[in-house]
Amino acid sequence: MSAQTYVSELFSLAGKVAVVTGGSSGIGRAIAGALARAGAEVVVVARREAELKATVGELESEGCRAAWVSADLGTGEGVRAAADGVVAVFGEPDILVNCAGINLRPPMDDLGEDVWDTTMAVNLKAPFLLGQRFGPGMAERGYGRIIHVSSQQAHRAFVNSGAYGVSKGGLESLARSQAEAWSPYGVTVNTLVPGFVLTPLNAHLASDPEKVASLAARTFVGRNGLAEDFAGAAVFLAGPSSSYVTGQALFVDGGFSSH
Ligand SMILES: NC(=O)c1ccc[n+]([C@@H]2O[C@H](COP(=O)([O-])OP(=O)(O)OC[C@H]3O[C@@H](n4cnc5c(N)ncnc54)[C@H](OP(=O)(O)O)[C@@H]3O)[C@@H](O)[C@H]2O)c1
Repeated sequence: MSAQTYVSELFSLAGKVAVVTGGSSGIGRAIAGALARAGAEVVVVARREAELKATVGELESEGCRAAWVSADLGTGEGVRAAADGVVAVFGEPDILVNCAGINLRPPMDDLGEDVWDTTMAVNLKAPFLLGQRFGPGMAERGYGRIIHVSSQQAHRAFVNSGAYGVSKGGLESLARSQAEAWSPYGVTVNTLVPGFVLTPLNAHLASDPEKVASLAARTFVGRNGLAEDFAGAAVFLAGPSSSYVTGQALFVDGGFSSH
């Protein structure tokens, strides 16, 4: 067997359909690209059409199969529309990546019910609803991969974690509950845990060079994360070789969480 065939048997996503929420920006865009380049047909979901079109255009120009659905995952109606739109393109997904997220960061004293509800809706309820929509079908077909993207703030407070940290802690618990339910049927559920990654989500922190340098110094590797750092881990968790890895949180953070 050639090395290429061996690697392909372990990691190829050919013939699989993936949906990546938040796939039009930052970490989600890098994950969508990685899954598509590994052979999956990928549907990216977010609100802004220009970013969605640009992402899909880039992947198609490389010969990948990709499509987009614009939807607001902050409402149940939006989640249902997203799910219907996804299925209409390439059929029921084998891989679900929940990467869409928001971090509104009001100080705790100012954290109102509106920010709490919005944060929970996008960061936690949408992943739950999409799991309910796609998980049982994956289990019935005997193969599925659900990947959530949480945060180091599920494990420690960090710059007004407020509702955001709570939502990410809940997401890691959701992954374990889903893993318990569906792993016997070939559906693994895991979480990728970023540290500090330079993306539009962090634009305000990234504009402070001292802060950026001090965060880099808190990793073992000595730099902050890049969206591309998630490519390999996502392909692994989406593919055939991770069939015995489930209910886990994989920290892709340069050692930030161990330092
Ligand atoms: N960057 C970091 O340091 C870091 C650290 C830990 C965890 N994370 C997590 O990693 C994930 C990706 O973050 P990122 O840094 O890559 O952020 P980003 O570049 O801001 O991307 C966020 C994505 O989510 C989408 N999104 C946000 N609200 C949405 C909604 N209501 N409906 C549908 N889509 C929505 C955005 O598209 P639209 O705005 O067009 O809808 C965008 O595609 C998030 O879950 C975040 O919490 C990031």
